[in-house]
Amino acid sequence: MILAKNISLKSFNTFGIDANAKLFCNITSVEILHNVLLEQHESSLFILGGGSNMLLTKDIDALVLHINLKGIEVVNETESTVTIKAMAGENWHEFVLWCLKHNYGGLENLSLIPGNIGTAPIQNIGAYGVELKDVFVSCEAVHIKNQTTKTFSKADCNFGYRESVFKQELNGDYIITSVNLELTKSNHSLHMDYGAIKNELEALKIKKPTIQDISRAVIAIRQSKLPDPKEIGNSGSFFKNPIISSRQFNQLQENFPNLPYYKISEEEVKVPAGWLIEKAGFKGKRFNDYGVHNKQALVLVNYGNANGKDIFELAQLIRKTVKRIFDITIETEVNII
Ligand code: EPU
Repeated sequence: MILAKNISLKSFNTFGIDANAKLFCNITSVEILHNVLLEQHESSLFILGGGSNMLLTKDIDALVLHINLKGIEVVNETESTVTIKAMAGENWHEFVLWCLKHNYGGLENLSLIPGNIGTAPIQNIGAYGVELKDVFVSCEAVHIKNQTTKTFSKADCNFGYRESVFKQELNGDYIITSVNLELTKSNHSLHMDYGAIKNELEALKIKKPTIQDISRAVIAIRQSKLPDPKEIGNSGSFFKNPIISSRQFNQLQENFPNLPYYKISEEEVKVPAGWLIEKAGFKGKRFNDYGVHNKQALVLVNYGNANGKDIFELAQLIRKTVKRIFDITIETEVNII
């Protein structure tokens, strides 16, 4: 087990923030993970997966465990489905491409989401009408304090919109080491209800789409709206889409008749934070080395060497302004460290 000192985390977080880790350990096997947890039980620990959903506002005065567990295997197969076990350190999008190459369906709408397998259940990643929970079977996780291994079923995970038990009651208790997903081998059920997907398939002149076509459409849509973290640092949606009461929504609609919405129930409506932020005047705004993306106002960006504190302050200003104009509180989706 090698512990490195004073390591820059710039290349380990998609925001590209240059914060330092006091100590750093590359976890390449479950055995190493158990050993580190046992030997370092008195150190404060910081678990780092794909680094795609965090904003570092300070140096990490702890031992950073970089979960770099690799491996993909088929663990069960029926005539029509396949269950795949993927280790936590596998890159999400590369895994999606692997599934598409084998013609396994279910993840195509989740193409090009940054991050790793192990962090996908934590916030129940989702895009274009599909969420991880739709294909999730179980995940294995190690308890940080007592090193026991537990298998979490879908019910145990208590998934919600960008939510799970790992962000709530069990926050900070477990390290996810692998995830099992059930995918289809044939008769794939295609999710094309999301308007942008239909339009993109039409533009590509595809009448009978395959799962690979849907993935291509999703990739095209995402590339047209969302910045590639390899070019411009970002963490995808910085805020969650707020859910408001139908009563408040009806009042807002009088002043803002174009406000897009998704009805959740008779009592609740979800509205796009990106729209609110754009209307508040922030879309495309740049302050020195950071700002709000010009094609999707939900995404805050680091153009080079911004520091996390500045981006956090911008986020606070956006929240305050949205609250003042719409009386809606928007919550961050990204973890602020
Ligand atoms: N909109 C604006 N201005 C903007 C951005 C959006 O007016 O700057 C409007 C759009 O015109 C549209 C509505 O808001 O009417 C929704 O926009 P979009 O379809 O782009 O989706 P979103 O609600 O902004 C969510 C997810 C994304 C996911 C897309 C597609 C959240 C917080 N974000 O964004 O997830 O890719 O839907 O399913 O739920 C992520 O989590 O990192 C992420 C990118």
